[in-house]
Amino acid sequence: MADMYSTIVVKGPQTVSESTESVTITDNRTGQSVEVPIVDGGVDASAWRDLMPGLWFLDPGFGVTASASSAITELDGANGVLRYRGYPIEQLAEKSTFLEVAYLLLNGELPNQQELDTWTHDITYHTFIHENMRKRFYEGFHYDAHPMGMLVSAIAALSTFYPEAKEVNDPHLRYKQINRLISKVPTLAAMAYRASIGMPFVYPDNSMTYPANFLSMMFQVADPNFQADPVLAKAMDVLFIIHGDHEQNCSTTAMRVVGSSLADPYSAAAGATAALYGPRHGGANEAVIHMLEEIGSYDNIPAFIESVKAGDRKLMGFGHRVYKAYDPRARIVKNHADEVFKVTGKNPLIDIALKLEEIALEDEYFKSRNLYPNVDFYTGLIYQAMGFPLDMFTVLFAIGRMPGWLSHWQESLEQGSKISRPRQVYVGPAARDYVSMSER
Ligand code: ACO
Repeated sequence: MADMYSTIVVKGPQTVSESTESVTITDNRTGQSVEVPIVDGGVDASAWRDLMPGLWFLDPGFGVTASASSAITELDGANGVLRYRGYPIEQLAEKSTFLEVAYLLLNGELPNQQELDTWTHDITYHTFIHENMRKRFYEGFHYDAHPMGMLVSAIAALSTFYPEAKEVNDPHLRYKQINRLISKVPTLAAMAYRASIGMPFVYPDNSMTYPANFLSMMFQVADPNFQADPVLAKAMDVLFIIHGDHEQNCSTTAMRVVGSSLADPYSAAAGATAALYGPRHGGANEAVIHMLEEIGSYDNIPAFIESVKAGDRKLMGFGHRVYKAYDPRARIVKNHADEVFKVTGKNPLIDIALKLEEIALEDEYFKSRNLYPNVDFYTGLIYQAMGFPLDMFTVLFAIGRMPGWLSHWQESLEQGSKISRPRQVYVGPAARDYVSMSER
């Protein structure tokens, strides 16, 4: 019967004749077909709309939906590959710095020396925040406020200090807000920590590198000459790099969605930070520490593994929605752990983590499900050894991810993308008349 079917050929950036591969969809109600070219591993969903107006794709959680075309980060989960603008994460972690990577994510190319110097200067000299933020805003939080809750609020509050940030289509003003957000988020983060433990705030020091300055604002106590250990500053920088971007994850999607309404970037970044706050996204490394503490010793590992295999619990820090191979970020973090422990002393939980990994990677349950350590398996151990309390772990993630969020926000504006407005499949009651109170 196929020859009865009329065919619509979808017009798009690449037509069927230019593409070597395509899919054909047939509406069995009408017999009409549509042939859609496969372009860059995706198909243009507007073809379905043309063929079947009013019929929507149901895809909660966006499991099979590409929400954007993006040239920023390439993630091949089957092969454990992560690249920013084409550069492998392993090379960036080894050879680059966080500020250089931030420039790369935002601009698409590595900076030359002059570009890097200008960028570094611009970031370094915008780390201060308005005194009202410190005196009035932070002091208003409850004494035991969670630092991540404070960070979400503080990032949103910045928009009230920079009203010109609403001009999102002005590239010059965009640059200014991008610059401010990357510069100030470590200051806000450290302030949230100091407020949460009742310690006086430490002002930024423009003579220090980005990670060293952050560690100084975090940990300086009664020593104006405090200098972070260079090994720890380097480890912090690498941890920021590996969190720099991860394509269309939950928080980045939040950034793009809020930004699509043309809200200012502080409001959009606050939305992204709020999305990161949740335990399904930014909070897993904290859960790993709790798990390792609960296991406590080698002797308890076999029973723990059995309870995981019985489905009673998850092995936290294992498995990933996209990676079905070893998360390349986990390998980088694991390799840095020894360097950090030489300075801080060994985190005793590392031995349990290594043994767990060894056993899990040999076990059929984990092998058959492609469950490997993800980035969160080892990061918490390093953070804890460096002196960060558990509730700061997600805050550290937010500092690293800020350039990624901003790159996606900028890219979506430059693409002239539409407002994000998905459809729904309505499953509620059919039309009915209002029932008065006396008749209910
Ligand atoms: N421990 C034990 N079993 C697991 C784990 C785990 N950590 N992860 C997945 N599985 C099992 C599932 O039970 C399922 O088994 P089944 O087929 O017998 O039902 C199978 O592996 C497939 O798992 P899904 O849940 O379908 O995988 P999904 O892609 O939906 O989940 C997720 C990914 C949420 C990350 C999951 O692996 C998990 O919960 N891991 C632990 C939490 C964690 O470490 N999160 C951090 C992720 S990295 C990040 O967000 C920065």
